[in-house]
Amino acid sequence: MTRHFLTLRDCSGDELERIIARAIALKKLRAEGRQYAPLQHRTLALIFDKSSTRTRVSFEAGMTQLGGVAMFLSPNDLQLGRGEPIEDTARVISRMVDVVAIRTHEHSKVERFATHSTVPVINALTDRHHPCQLLADIQTYVERRGSIRGRVAAWVGDGNNVCHSWIDAAALFGFTLRIATPDGYAPDQNIVERAAGHVERAASFDEAITGADIVITDTWASMGQEQEKNQRIRVFEPFRVDSRAMRLATPGALFMHCLPAYRGMEVTTDVIDGPQSVVWDEAENRLHAQKALLEFLLAPTLNG
Ligand code: CP
Ligand code: NVA
Repeated sequence: MTRHFLTLRDCSGDELERIIARAIALKKLRAEGRQYAPLQHRTLALIFDKSSTRTRVSFEAGMTQLGGVAMFLSPNDLQLGRGEPIEDTARVISRMVDVVAIRTHEHSKVERFATHSTVPVINALTDRHHPCQLLADIQTYVERRGSIRGRVAAWVGDGNNVCHSWIDAAALFGFTLRIATPDGYAPDQNIVERAAGHVERAASFDEAITGADIVITDTWASMGQEQEKNQRIRVFEPFRVDSRAMRLATPGALFMHCLPAYRGMEVTTDVIDGPQSVVWDEAENRLHAQKALLEFLLAPTLNG
């Protein structure tokens, strides 16, 4: 059966731990200058209808390093942009390439594509989830501090796509996620409920962060919410992560942000550019974690 990666829940906790361990091993291989190219003659199609720096570059560079090729397709170049159904697009493209990564707005679009695809489909970000980011983020935590099991992470700000994937991660990797958002910006209740026992809604920003091992935030206005930006800035103002907030966390706490970041908005410059910030590792690890994911998803088609 074709495996897809639309949310973290498409994998078991054990599989995710294996992917993280493999990402760390692939990072080491690259640092040693050793080539590893199991995906020769394989093609990854990247269908992106939102901007991207990290996700696009890491998938393209990662595919090259693994010996394969990545093909970037904007929907405006595809007949998809002129009304060809997503189901037909999936049937056609999956007969030609080996794996597809999609970045789009509605999560249902990646689900519809996956239903009609004969090859693995990876969610490269939707309005609802960003599972690839979490592979890199958990890898980053493990590299810096060891296992994340039993730890406390604090998500402060918008209950958005990245927050939803952190919620899934809490259940699958066995840690607690404390969440503080302004009223009206809470994460989806269904996603919270299926992580029961691993998610706590904090009464305040300070309560979420106090004693946390990780402090995480994201932009206050995600892609597609540009029109709401000014209103959101007013609402989210008390949720800025600054040095006072970081002092509430444990002394060794890490600051995480998927990037792109807006200094002076959701995080102050001294925090994101300070010693507790691991944002550049998170960004780099997108490369290694997605290489491990590609290897995992394509494993059944290799050596045979
Ligand atoms: N974090 C992340 O997905 O970044 P990009 O939007 O640049 O891909
Ligand atoms: N929440 C952000 C993440 C960007 C990587 C967005 O969806 O725009």
